Amino acid sequence: MVSRPFQVKCSGRAGLIGVARPAILAPMVKHRVHIKSFGCQMNKLDTALVSASLREAGFGLTDSVKEADAVVINTCSVREHAEARILSHLGHLKHLKQHRPGLVVAIIGCMAQRLGQTLLEHDAVNIVCGPTQIPQIAELIAESLAHSAKQLAVTAEIRHDAEPARQALEAFELAHAVDGEQGPATPGQAFVRVMRGCNNFCTYCIVPYVRGPEVCRPPQAILDQVKQLADEGIKQVTLLGQTVNAYQYTSGGKTWSLADLLHRAAEVEGIEWIRFVTSYPSEAFYDDILQAMASSSKVCNYLHMPAQSGSDRILRAMNRHYTAEQYLELLARARAVVPDIAVAGDFIVGFPGETDEDFQATVELVRRARYRNCFIFKYSPRPGTTSDKRHADTIPDEVKQRRNVELLAAQEQISAELSEAYQGRTVKVLVEGLSKKAHVNPTDGANHPQLVGRTATDYIVVFNGPPALAGQFARVRITQTSPLTLFGERID
Ligand code: 5AD
Ligand code: SF4
Repeated sequence: MVSRPFQVKCSGRAGLIGVARPAILAPMVKHRVHIKSFGCQMNKLDTALVSASLREAGFGLTDSVKEADAVVINTCSVREHAEARILSHLGHLKHLKQHRPGLVVAIIGCMAQRLGQTLLEHDAVNIVCGPTQIPQIAELIAESLAHSAKQLAVTAEIRHDAEPARQALEAFELAHAVDGEQGPATPGQAFVRVMRGCNNFCTYCIVPYVRGPEVCRPPQAILDQVKQLADEGIKQVTLLGQTVNAYQYTSGGKTWSLADLLHRAAEVEGIEWIRFVTSYPSEAFYDDILQAMASSSKVCNYLHMPAQSGSDRILRAMNRHYTAEQYLELLARARAVVPDIAVAGDFIVGFPGETDEDFQATVELVRRARYRNCFIFKYSPRPGTTSDKRHADTIPDEVKQRRNVELLAAQEQISAELSEAYQGRTVKVLVEGLSKKAHVNPTDGANHPQLVGRTATDYIVVFNGPPALAGQFARVRITQTSPLTLFGERID
């Protein structure tokens, strides 16, 4: 179903010879860097790599902007709202810099790539560094600090043949993926990138423009990383790619698929759960992945497969290569192979020209798909994308808002029904840590912080227990449910 305009898939092991790691001199005074991350899981992973590289270069990391000599902001461009939040954050930093002109502010990530040099015109900004340039970030910060907050910008032209940048990124990823000193942001869990970029060019999406074409990482590098992470005590790995199910890599006469990676990762001792996000609804690379899920207890029964719309007309305008019926057929196949699979979706409401009828087709799809959870977004025109060039953003915000609320309500009803089925059941959860919210505990009525964890099917579970359980598995009997959260008591 998916036709790709072009493909850049690597074959053979990426040669890393000749990729010089930047020689960074450890600063005389240990400068401290504060890092803030916006956006998706790819960004979280990049933030972790950048943190590790900064520490290796001799910087200290701090949670406090007040203590920092430099601030790094990892940015997201997927919707205007994300960029607006970042700009407002930059407003605070501009204010701070009136008293501390030597503070260095570096913008990395998608917004750095999208806006490039023009971001340097913002009074707060000293460094602009695109996502493919992050191996240089420590060097850039050191240079800016050494020259009274000098302004520097590096972004790459997004090209398909940017081999040196690709090799440098691969070397950077290998060097910093396992940060034994700092440890993972969520105990026991880590992300592993299997591919970068995207070739799909859905008409609304900025990702192919800022992250470049799809490049799959060598399977051996991915599996070595999974082994190293397991050695560091990681129990769950999430394999990341914009269209992760399309992973393909030819090496030594063998073509590797995502299913091959799942099987091999499942053999790694210590790894108990493997997830993968995000899947594109495509015929290709589908059944073998479902088989891997069905046959291995380690591959979590969870599929994040965005539909974006339930209207075939809008799906065509979005350049998505399936119809609503074909999408539902894929879900039916998934449920035939993995009966208890939990499915999550993404939807965009208010795409240009979306009529009430189109929107009702989306509501209908949501009702039939029976997602465990949906992420719903109001269409946000992104400069340079095809839909922005072709169409005005015609749907008024109050209509987008109304459709957003209606779709959420339809989903909430389904989520509530699916959650209720968990009442009285005992589930296995991977504990993340203390819940940020205080919940009323149904077992003792007390209102205090409790542990939060997730099931293999990605249900959030809140229960009582010692914080030391973070990063461990626990068994919890469910005593109360809400659409998105299950509550229960731990069974020792
Ligand atoms: N406007 C609104 N939502 C968008 N997404 C991607 N681009 C846009 C846009 N321009 C949503 C899609 C995607 C998710 C990560 O963000 O639903 O799956
Ligand atoms: Fe790629 Fe489409 Fe996903 Fe954007 S929405 S990252 S273009 S598959």
